[in-house]
Parts: sequence; C-alpha cells; structure tokens
Amino acid sequence: MVANKRPLIIAHRGASGSSPENTMAAFRKSVHAGADMIELDVRLTQDFHLVVHHDRNVRRTTNGRGNIWDLTLQQLRSLDAGSWFSPKFQRERIPTLREVMEFLLPTRVNLNVEVKTDGDPRKRTHFEECVILIIMEKKFEERTLVSSFDHKFLKHMHELFPGIKTGALYHPVRDVRKKPSTLCSRIGASAFICSRTQLRQRIIDDVRAHKLVLATYGINTPQHFDAILDLGVDAMVTDWPEKMVKRLIS
Ligand code: G3P
Ligand code: MG
Repeated sequence: MVANKRPLIIAHRGASGSSPENTMAAFRKSVHAGADMIELDVRLTQDFHLVVHHDRNVRRTTNGRGNIWDLTLQQLRSLDAGSWFSPKFQRERIPTLREVMEFLLPTRVNLNVEVKTDGDPRKRTHFEECVILIIMEKKFEERTLVSSFDHKFLKHMHELFPGIKTGALYHPVRDVRKKPSTLCSRIGASAFICSRTQLRQRIIDDVRAHKLVLATYGINTPQHFDAILDLGVDAMVTDWPEKMVKRLIS
C-alpha cells in the first residue's frame, strides 16, 4: 500500500454493511464494488489453520458456540456464517485466509490481513510464521498489509520477514498520547491505522513528517467521507465500499 493521490477504499470485513462480515459474499461484493483493498480479520484454529473471523467466539456471527482456538477447521467449516445477517446468506461459511487469497489472485484487489491474537490462551502458536508462509505461498508479499493491535506480533513478524508491510493499529488506552511515528518505528511498521474519531491534526502532521501511510476506519456515511477526504488520509476503511467508491468517482 503506497500513499495515493486519491484515498484507497478498503472494504472493512468485506462489504459488511450489505453482506455478512468476513464471508466470501462480502468479499465478492467488495471486488464488484471496485474496492482497492479488502480488510479481514484472521484467527488461528485449534488445529493451526488461519480462518477469517472477527470475534473470539463464533456465537454472534454463526449458528455455533465456542472460541476459535477451541474449534478445528472442520468444526468451523460446518457452521452457517450468513443466516445471522439474512436467510439469503445461509450457505456462507467461515473462509480460510488461503481461500480468500485464491479468490483475489486474478483481481487487482489487495489485502489487509488484520491479525487477532486477543483471548487465545496458547503460548508459542507460531502464528507469525503461519501468516508469513501463506503470504509467501500465494506470492502475496506485494499485495498484503498485515495489521494488528498486537504490536509485539507485528514486531516479531517484521523481524522474521521484513518484506511484508505492516500497519500499527492505534489502541486508544495503551497508545494514548504516543506519536504514530514512535509506535511504528519501534516495530518496523510503515502504516498507521486509527478510527475516524481518534484522528487528530497532530496525528496527520506526524504521519506526514515521517512518510507513513495513514488509514482511517469507521468511514460509513457521506458526511464521514467528505470530512476525511479534506484531511487527505491515504486510505478509508468502510463497511460500504459500494457507496464510497461511487462517491469518490462522482
Ligand atoms: O482495521 C480496522 C478495524 O478492522 C479494526 O477494528 O474491530 O473492526 O477489527 P475491528
Ligand atoms: Mg478488523
């Protein structure tokens, strides 16, 4: 991801305003809408597969029960990940990261893999290595930004394989009053990501001074869009790529 003249449109959990989040339906819609990039959340299953799921627990977005780290890929794949949103999505399953990369391979749409490590009680899962290996296997090094609230994860990943770009997600409590440049330089990140409500002029100034890429999430209305466009961010993360792409080109 490089700084652009116009902001990149990143589909947050896919086109999650109009489809069940983090499903192939949401990713297909993002590509169709003309999004530049898809943001998705990745967690590690009990048997060490990378699956696309936001919450620790499957309760909210599937018909199952339990934490991702207690369930095998086979168990997770048997769940309905679409009906909670609408009965017409009942065939949706929890995707694997590999499946999404294979889907994106022939497209021009890039990928923001947000790694979720919170809640997982296991030590030494080799999560970093799993992410690096899949990106290398699919030759997605140039097309992927790996982001996380877990800056230790990003630091370790960068040490293992600096060829993959990383983005530090701003945590409003832990990172309060810390400059983006301080947070990013500690871990080798080239992008800084915060929410619309966290964005301040001092953040923008610091990011510019240090040539970091700035992405902002929570851009879901025309008012959000217009306000953020004036601030000159590099990327907008939205639940509604279909609406934001239209607004950008209109
Ligand atoms: O990348 C921005 C955003 O995805 C971070 O928050 O909770 O939607 O994963 P969350
Ligand atoms: Mg996310």
